[in-house]
Amino acid sequence: MPSQFPSARPRRLRRNASFRDLFQEAEFNLGDLVLPIFVEEEIDDFVPINSMPGVMRIPESKLAGEIERYARAGIKSVMTFGVSHHLDADGSDTWNENGLVARIARICKDTAPEMVVMADTCFCEYTSHGHCGVLHGDHVDNDATLINLGKQAVVAARAGADFISPSAAMDGQVQAIRAALDEAGFFDTSIMAYSTKFASSFYGPFREAGGTALKGDRKTYQMNPMNRREAVRESLLDEQEGADALMVKPAGAYLDIIRDIREASRLPLAAYQVSGEYAMIKFAGQAGAVDEQRIVRESLGAIKRAGADLIFTYFAMDIAREGI
Ligand code: PBG
Repeated sequence: MPSQFPSARPRRLRRNASFRDLFQEAEFNLGDLVLPIFVEEEIDDFVPINSMPGVMRIPESKLAGEIERYARAGIKSVMTFGVSHHLDADGSDTWNENGLVARIARICKDTAPEMVVMADTCFCEYTSHGHCGVLHGDHVDNDATLINLGKQAVVAARAGADFISPSAAMDGQVQAIRAALDEAGFFDTSIMAYSTKFASSFYGPFREAGGTALKGDRKTYQMNPMNRREAVRESLLDEQEGADALMVKPAGAYLDIIRDIREASRLPLAAYQVSGEYAMIKFAGQAGAVDEQRIVRESLGAIKRAGADLIFTYFAMDIAREGI
């Protein structure tokens, strides 16, 4: 007759903190995190981003000091976004050898050569209409945008960016960028592809942070959040096109997608905990509804558990300062 008491007792391994540490499966450390930063030209002071408490736009003139501070705190990598004052229809400042994209990469690499610099490669912060490419009427022209992405990538690579990170969500962008980089001799510049990027409302606060002019949405080029098979297909296409690493964005609401891609590809996989995810945790913490530090660790740990190798997170400096 079976005993009324169990013989399998998972609680045995949870007895105290040492047991729990020994048997913990997933973990993250500072070396897995990339800090996204916003750098604005032609301003003197830091600009707080109201929808992302604790995050500020960095004046270009103070970028070197900030990079030094990050490096001292143990940050290994930054993803750079420019906030441009030179908008035009095509975002041409991005392929100007002395434009903001180039200057940001140069300042970062000159200040901390060991810092891994990933240049977000897109046009939405450099176009007067806020779309991620060349606009014809209300249509974003895929192939015209590819040519401009190639030009921007070469300029960023020449300025020292270690990774080109195309986030424009154009078909064929990885192939076009790889070809342009190789043609210009930048064989060692890597591509961190925003390979599965959803048209997500979680990017809300980014619009204030990045100062994008967009009216409307990006649903004709970014993915439908409800599509799981297509999400895997998008990343596998980028792998075939020559991406060095893949990415799922956003992260927290897309853990199933992270797991699917982890199982479908051998490439390193990143996940981007985006502006809205950050804001939701910050504001809930400020309201006293949750314990911010614990929620940050739990959310990042869950993203690792789902299968991400790297995590882009605005909490990276908080973690560097407070320890894991
Ligand atoms: C640029 C880009 C966006 C983000 C990263 N790169 C905005 C968008 O696609 O609308 C969002 C990052 C975030 O919300 O933290 N295309």
